[in-house]
Amino acid sequence: MLNNYTKTYINQMARRTRTNLTERHLRVLEFAFNYYEKNKVGPLYNNIERYTGVSKQDISKLFPHGLNSVYTWIGIPIHSVSDTCKPVADIDVDEYREVYFDHNGTTYLRDEIKPYLEKYIKGEYGYGNPSSSTFLGKSAFEKITMARNEIASSLSVKPNEITFTASGSEANNLGVKGIAFKYHETKGHIITTNIEHSSILESVQFLGMLGYDVTFLDVDKNGLITVEAVREALRSNTILVAIMAVNNEIGIINPIEGIGELCKLAEVPLMVDATQAYGKIELKPKEMGISLMSFSGHKIYAPKGIGALYIDEMYSVVPLIHGGGQEFNRRSGTENVGHIIAFGKAAVLAHKEMKSEYKRITRLRDYFIEQLKIIVPGHIINGSINNRVPHNLNVGFPGIDSGTLLISLNKIGVYVSSGSSCSAGSKEASPIIQALGVDTDYYGTIRFSFGLKTNKKDIDYLFKYLPEIIEQIADEPQNFSKGK
Ligand SMILES: Cc1ncc(COP(=O)(O)O)c(C=O)c1O
Repeated sequence: MLNNYTKTYINQMARRTRTNLTERHLRVLEFAFNYYEKNKVGPLYNNIERYTGVSKQDISKLFPHGLNSVYTWIGIPIHSVSDTCKPVADIDVDEYREVYFDHNGTTYLRDEIKPYLEKYIKGEYGYGNPSSSTFLGKSAFEKITMARNEIASSLSVKPNEITFTASGSEANNLGVKGIAFKYHETKGHIITTNIEHSSILESVQFLGMLGYDVTFLDVDKNGLITVEAVREALRSNTILVAIMAVNNEIGIINPIEGIGELCKLAEVPLMVDATQAYGKIELKPKEMGISLMSFSGHKIYAPKGIGALYIDEMYSVVPLIHGGGQEFNRRSGTENVGHIIAFGKAAVLAHKEMKSEYKRITRLRDYFIEQLKIIVPGHIINGSINNRVPHNLNVGFPGIDSGTLLISLNKIGVYVSSGSSCSAGSKEASPIIQALGVDTDYYGTIRFSFGLKTNKKDIDYLFKYLPEIIEQIADEPQNFSKGK
């Protein structure tokens, strides 16, 4: 039986590769999964055909990369199934170290907020329902109010302009659909970009299916959305502009202030996905012309499953979840009190140390680039080097399959992310990398993202072993240095 994690991953992979999952896909995937659980190797075509009736030809038609996709979608490591994935590197390390370079993916809980969560779990804050009028309930309500104040003050907005949600994705859905549904009779025009997180992209696509006009803007050669592009796209019937502050893959910072000014003049609400920006750069929605702004706890060392949406009091949204009227009638459902408390504390800490962390991480990022220049002279850095947060470095490695590099790094304890790879079941690079004009057949793309625990030793560890890994997995001998 496929477990829930694997099912979710399969759905993600299907979405990313625009594969319409059918009963035949699932039959093959389930068989391969069970086979691997039992035999610790993936099944070959003859077994799949014998037990599922799906032939080799069918598999190559059903899945974007045939058996490769079948394996990777269910988490079977690929060694040499076909020519799209190479064997991973086999390296002996002197002193194994866990190096987390995937802070854009998610973060760990920071130590300072653990005591709050522990107290909540132990019941020290009471177990009351924040909507109940008992003392217990009132105490929970006060805790939520405190967190709401903390988050509001980090943005210099009013507490009642903050709505808690269960994730950044939910906040994005609420912002986009919540505004659009107010125009459900007349519809209207929505502007967004091709580089948004799927929770914005797919919300807007969905609204397109409902009859709204939608415009998806492309990035320029630096990976940025320009104010000019937004100006040209605005129409008299535009009801919403939705543009992210910081891109999750390449870390570029969009010119939100300029776009905000434009939207203000045009009297169109600007919704900003600030999930990768909150706690990293200063965000003052009132001064930046932002009407709605989403963010998420697990990118700032708070728990997963808590997010928020700022909604300027001038605007209202149609709720997506109806019911008890919590969160100012914008998002019903009993609040996740413990996570909200932790989110508030994480927000305070992130903002307190924002400037110093920015500087520290910039120094580390620059050191990383110095090493990269020595060890992999043929590399490229994707996206503008000037307009980006230092927390992200998206690197193109020449002649390297990114999935193979990702798994090879994983094996020595280095955790990174890659938007495109054979491990993701698709050799196709993400739209933003393609939009930059990167030769995606030649460069394998890896995202390194830095955070609180990143230090120089992490970077030295990576670069100590990178030359050998590249030597083992490169398509052809590379012009790289063997390091220090
Ligand atoms: C830019 C961006 N927006 C939204 C989200 C979704 O946030 P959550 O994981 O809390 O749903 C993410 C998560 O990676 C993101 O990077």
